[in-house]
Amino acid sequence: MTMQTKNILTMGELRSEEFFSILKISRYLKQNADHGSVLCGKSLVMIFQKPSTRTRISFEVGMYQLGGQALNLSASEMQLSRGESIEDTARTISRYADCVMARVYEHSHIEALASSASIPVINGLSNTFHPCQTLADFATIAQHKGDLKKLRIAWVGDGNNVCNSMIYGAALAGVPITIATPEEMQPLKQVVQQAQKHITIQLTTDPVEAVRDADVVMTDTFKSIHTNTDSGVDRLYPTYQVNDSLMRIADSDAIFLHCLPATRGREVTKSVMDGPQSVVWDEAENRLHTQKALLIMLMRPDAAEHILQSTDQF
Ligand code: CP
Ligand code: NVA
Repeated sequence: MTMQTKNILTMGELRSEEFFSILKISRYLKQNADHGSVLCGKSLVMIFQKPSTRTRISFEVGMYQLGGQALNLSASEMQLSRGESIEDTARTISRYADCVMARVYEHSHIEALASSASIPVINGLSNTFHPCQTLADFATIAQHKGDLKKLRIAWVGDGNNVCNSMIYGAALAGVPITIATPEEMQPLKQVVQQAQKHITIQLTTDPVEAVRDADVVMTDTFKSIHTNTDSGVDRLYPTYQVNDSLMRIADSDAIFLHCLPATRGREVTKSVMDGPQSVVWDEAENRLHTQKALLIMLMRPDAAEHILQSTDQF
């Protein structure tokens, strides 16, 4: 399976068929450990402008498990920090490696990288999007809930980077989503408008309205890495906190997702985060499987096709 797009920057560039293929391959990889050399000889360059635990580890371990290598570069150690342009950096990396994953502040930085790279570029989080998280989130929802099409998702809190990509994901999956945020913290208008062509999206300021009968309740930190002040926290806490009383309004079998890192007692209570409805550790694990699937799709489309032919799951 060859993807129509070379780069995964938002999630909005994927076609539904490609999205489901990634989930299908990821499920296959999770269940079949023996796929060790599919990316033999391939290199992934990882550039981090921001801290990371899950993204860094899951990409690096993923490349290792597939027989390839990952190079971890902090932007501050590269010539980027001395003024070399992103475009020249992209041209250089393209002569050595087979794929680049970058975690950046401004989304325009990942766009600049993609525009000058001749190899695939993956956004490992920008201020505005986090597509890799969305892949893992839908793999987790499918793992626990089965048929995605029968579900309704509720997002509560900041309409941030994770939320923006989640909306694109919901559109690809055909799952309606309700988003409860203060008005000034709503997700990007153009993302909502684009997704609305495919699914029902409801924006509200009321968390109770959002989670009523929802099958999936999601939130994220009230203070993202790029946020310098506590104004978001002040605005969101305690009204938008996911706690036991909010979870009781959702479907009794609802699951709770959080991309992590979490601050217990702020966006989510300890009782929900560590309670029976929480699937956050499966969610973190699924970063590994979904990204391995994505890496195969981008670097070895022939192998991706082979896996897709050999499995009819999903
Ligand atoms: N969810 C996520 O992207 O985690 P990290 O910031 O630890 O990579
Ligand atoms: N919204 C958070 C996600 C962290 C994975 C941030 O940007 O810091």
